[in-house]
Amino acid sequence: MKKVLSLLLAVVMMFSLVACGGGEEAGSDVTTYKVGVAIYQFDDNFMTNYRNELVSYFETKNTDTVKYEVTLVDGKNDMATQTDQIRNFITQGMDLIICNLVQTSSADAIIDEVVAAEIPLVLINREPLAYDADGVPVKEGYEGILNNPTVCYVGSDARQSGTYQGEIVLALDNKGDVDGDGVVRYVMVVGDPENIDAQFRTEYSIKALKDAGVEVECLVEQIGNWATDQGQTITANAITAHGDKIDVVFCNNDGMALGAYAAIEAAGLKVGEDLYLLGVDALPEAIDLMKAGNMTGTVLNDHIAQSHAAVDAAVDVLAGGEMQNYYWANYAKVDKAYVDANY
Ligand code: GAL
Repeated sequence: MKKVLSLLLAVVMMFSLVACGGGEEAGSDVTTYKVGVAIYQFDDNFMTNYRNELVSYFETKNTDTVKYEVTLVDGKNDMATQTDQIRNFITQGMDLIICNLVQTSSADAIIDEVVAAEIPLVLINREPLAYDADGVPVKEGYEGILNNPTVCYVGSDARQSGTYQGEIVLALDNKGDVDGDGVVRYVMVVGDPENIDAQFRTEYSIKALKDAGVEVECLVEQIGNWATDQGQTITANAITAHGDKIDVVFCNNDGMALGAYAAIEAAGLKVGEDLYLLGVDALPEAIDLMKAGNMTGTVLNDHIAQSHAAVDAAVDVLAGGEMQNYYWANYAKVDKAYVDANY
């Protein structure tokens, strides 16, 4: 009898050692959820702040009875790599996947695989959109998300960030026309062509100026892949080619604006006197430039609100709740007054 009992005990102990994904471990009251987080590229200023906040906010959700085990992977800006990583997450039995897509055109393929594996999916930062016959995004919602109750997107409406950039320029006494010749001549440093944030920021910043009746001329529009070094090269070349004709340098993000500033400084030009410089994200480095008068404005891309919304949605759905299809965070216009009041 004693032998049988100890055998039984051994079996019970064995079970208690087996971590069951999303399940309660036998013999303990702790439920561990395995969460796989796929980031398009670790080497991205904004997404670095975002993913750090995502991880720390998940930690605040751990309790005595529920634990979140977060695994982060770097897609290295390569869709094939990211697809493999998502497949690994599925094989590893993740309870939930958070994905910052490398390419939004692959959204359907990723959604299909994750949904087929019955794993809830939270897409972040890169919004997949449906397009109509004219190539115009259908803003009401993306079919791949709307058709699946366990898939959601967390992000911000990039049109707002572009409009805010334009409005910051419009609020200047000369409305961006530094040399007063009646035309605002600009350089546009673009994130990446496939990305809706880049498309909308490029379009809506200029639309705001045009809608206000300002005449504009594009001197240079070039892709900088969100990267500081590319922002620097593009701006340096633009200054060489167009010199003091440039009134405004618009960058789709602060990462590239930091590079643009380095080029402006190296050319001996002064922001606010010779030209204006705009970014998006409100990175701490950009706020520092603004405080020193070396950047005209930026737009707060709220990685805190976005990462928290993503984690909250994940925690809810893992606890048996329902997901909305879309969670939106607002941008904020960061001009001089905003910096004085908030930083
Ligand atoms: C944007 C952000 C950029 C870059 C990009 C990556 O929202 O402004 O800095 O991180 O996302 O998709």
